[in-house]
Amino acid sequence: MHFQTLLPFVLASLATAHTVPWVKGMYCINGTSHEDAPNTNTAVNPLYNLAKADWWFQHDRGCDAYPPDEGDILELPAGGSFEVEMAHNRAQTTLSYDGKFTSIWPDGKEHPEDWSGPGNPPECITDGTGALHTNNQTMAAGSAFAISYNSELSDVTSENLVVFTVAAHTPWKRLASFSVPAALPACPPGGCHCAWLWVPNGCGQPNMYMAGYRCNVTGATSTIPVAKGQTPVYCPDDASKCVKGAKQMVVWNQ
Ligand SMILES: *[C@@H]1O[C@H](CO)[C@@H](O)[C@H](O)[C@H]1NC(C)=O
Ligand SMILES: *[C@@H]1O[C@H](CO)[C@@H](O)[C@H](O)[C@H]1NC(C)=O
Ligand SMILES: *[C@@H]1O[C@H](CO)[C@@H](O)[C@H](O)[C@H]1NC(C)=O
Repeated sequence: MHFQTLLPFVLASLATAHTVPWVKGMYCINGTSHEDAPNTNTAVNPLYNLAKADWWFQHDRGCDAYPPDEGDILELPAGGSFEVEMAHNRAQTTLSYDGKFTSIWPDGKEHPEDWSGPGNPPECITDGTGALHTNNQTMAAGSAFAISYNSELSDVTSENLVVFTVAAHTPWKRLASFSVPAALPACPPGGCHCAWLWVPNGCGQPNMYMAGYRCNVTGATSTIPVAKGQTPVYCPDDASKCVKGAKQMVVWNQ
């Protein structure tokens, strides 16, 4: 395989790319095929103005029908953390081409540590179509993972899929770390399901992201089940308005 001939295709496909965490255990790792797809961005594209049946676990593009291989599962060490690779395309991760097209950034290119859009105050970063949806690191909205204690995707619902970790100011660099609460109990024998969730804070189409993963809590010591998720309430200026306990995902412009 000649990387020189592949590169133009990789770059061309970035035109519509956004960002998603790549890791073994994800749905659509080969796009909607069972053949190796080192240059796929099927799982990356945003969700916008869709019916729930279509945005839920990226049914619109068929990703919910392309689970990971048996044995590929995202491990969540209770009380520890896990790492994922945020990128616009699988090509810019270590899952493809032996990592030849990776950099510390999600687009596989070089940027200054204080990467920001043009102007002062900075406008939106325009990497391709503004795939990072931000002006700079401080404006990056943050993203979350949620867990459902169900081995079958068809049993996952809004109420049993609860947010368990948030990484502030992500997506930003390629490598992102999410902490795992020590209180998460073990998953059923077939493992759990997880979703990565992102509602960007401006800069481009006001869309959202939901990517699916098979996941499994390891080293669990708690046996207390996770509570049913409640609808979250935006509460930046008044903590008394915040919903305590397990919360559902935020859904935006669907
Ligand atoms: C992805 O492609 C590789 C290489 O062909 C294959 O071994 C693997 O089973 C595929 N995985 C999925 C989930 O399609
Ligand atoms: C980040 O961008 C926002 C929006 O332009 C701006 O208000 C803020 O000052 C910037 N922060 C830094 C650290 O440059
Ligand atoms: C999940 O992790 C537990 C604890 O390490 C292990 O016993 C179990 O086999 C794992 N389940 C799956 C589906 O990988």
